[in-house]
Amino acid sequence: MFERLTPTDPDAILALMQAFQADPRPGKVDLGIGVWRDADGRTPVFSAVKRAEKRIWKRQETKTYVSFRGDAAFHEAVSNLLLGPATDGQWRAASATTGGTSAVQTALTLARAAHPDLRVWIPAETWPNHWVLARSLGLETRSFAYIDPDTQEIDRAGLLRDLDRAQAGDVVLLHACCHNPTGADPDAELQAAIVASLARTGAVPVIDCAYLGFGATPEEDSAFLRRLSTLPEVLIAFSGSKSFGLYRERVGLCLALADGPQARDVVENHLTRINRVTYSFPPDHGARTVTEILGDQTLRTEWQDELGSIRDAITTHRARLSEALRMRLNTDRFDRLTRQKGMFAMLPLGEARVAELRNAHGIYIVGAGRINMAGVTEETCATVADALATVLR
Ligand SMILES: Cc1ncc(COP(=O)(O)O)c(C=O)c1O
Repeated sequence: MFERLTPTDPDAILALMQAFQADPRPGKVDLGIGVWRDADGRTPVFSAVKRAEKRIWKRQETKTYVSFRGDAAFHEAVSNLLLGPATDGQWRAASATTGGTSAVQTALTLARAAHPDLRVWIPAETWPNHWVLARSLGLETRSFAYIDPDTQEIDRAGLLRDLDRAQAGDVVLLHACCHNPTGADPDAELQAAIVASLARTGAVPVIDCAYLGFGATPEEDSAFLRRLSTLPEVLIAFSGSKSFGLYRERVGLCLALADGPQARDVVENHLTRINRVTYSFPPDHGARTVTEILGDQTLRTEWQDELGSIRDAITTHRARLSEALRMRLNTDRFDRLTRQKGMFAMLPLGEARVAELRNAHGIYIVGAGRINMAGVTEETCATVADALATVLR
């Protein structure tokens, strides 16, 4: 049987990570994989997480199954974090998933059950797994314009023109905040125009929320989500990997806003079924940890402070790199780095320059130029900026 198998496409980020580890050069710099690292290159456990885990450990007397959709207290805690308490007439259905990846997959599976021939509209620049997930579910995909290649800012007219082509039954994949890979998020005006376009076409947003709190406070970072939640039907895929540093615990939530109590019940029924036929029960430990943090004012404040320090570091890294490039290349082209949000930024490199940076300078960058700002520390910034200036000149 196995002789009949042919290899699937290699995961580019994983391959890059392996090449970085195998590289013996002492000055190498990893700007690749999307994991937060501090100035010492560590991805520490949040102290709020440690404390919450300790409390759970002391209290927990059973590890028996919870339910197919996971713990209702987790659904409520994360839904309230993202959208605030449910208002009258808002019908929320949720299921815990195995991380944000499976939350996206669950949202698309649910949409497919309603409209098997739907089209998934995906931003032209996005987390590459969006394409893989949609296609592996057999769904038709379309891209919509996102970034203007000249300015690396959002192509507002192109984006709205393309979104207006979506139809009722289609879904439109959007990033809640800290767009991966560009760091370019729609401003309030564009957010409102996107909501208006969806209201007109009847297409349903699937909002991927994997970096809450990395661009601004969690409350501010959920502004787009909250605007979109005024639409009658919405799907949200939340990941706790980055925002709580719980990567390997696989914390995720698929949250659906339905148009009435009957629709909510049938969505819950489908979410139950989707989990039932995949992993039966979603992982609980990370989800419980998040619930504990969000439900206790002291832990919640501690978590927000820790998230705030990550955000401050990202802001500093962005400012430092933009300044270093301004000095070396005598241009304000990179000032946008200070306005854009989150862990990632796109640099106008292209695959040849990315290869040159890796081979000649030991600097590891994903694809055509996505960098993880976490790697641009006080220590590495000059090396990175020198090498970038060399290849960009
Ligand atoms: C945009 C986006 N969505 C979802 C995810 C999934 O995260 P996870 O499955 O690790 O929770 C990631 C992770 O890199 C991401 O960048």
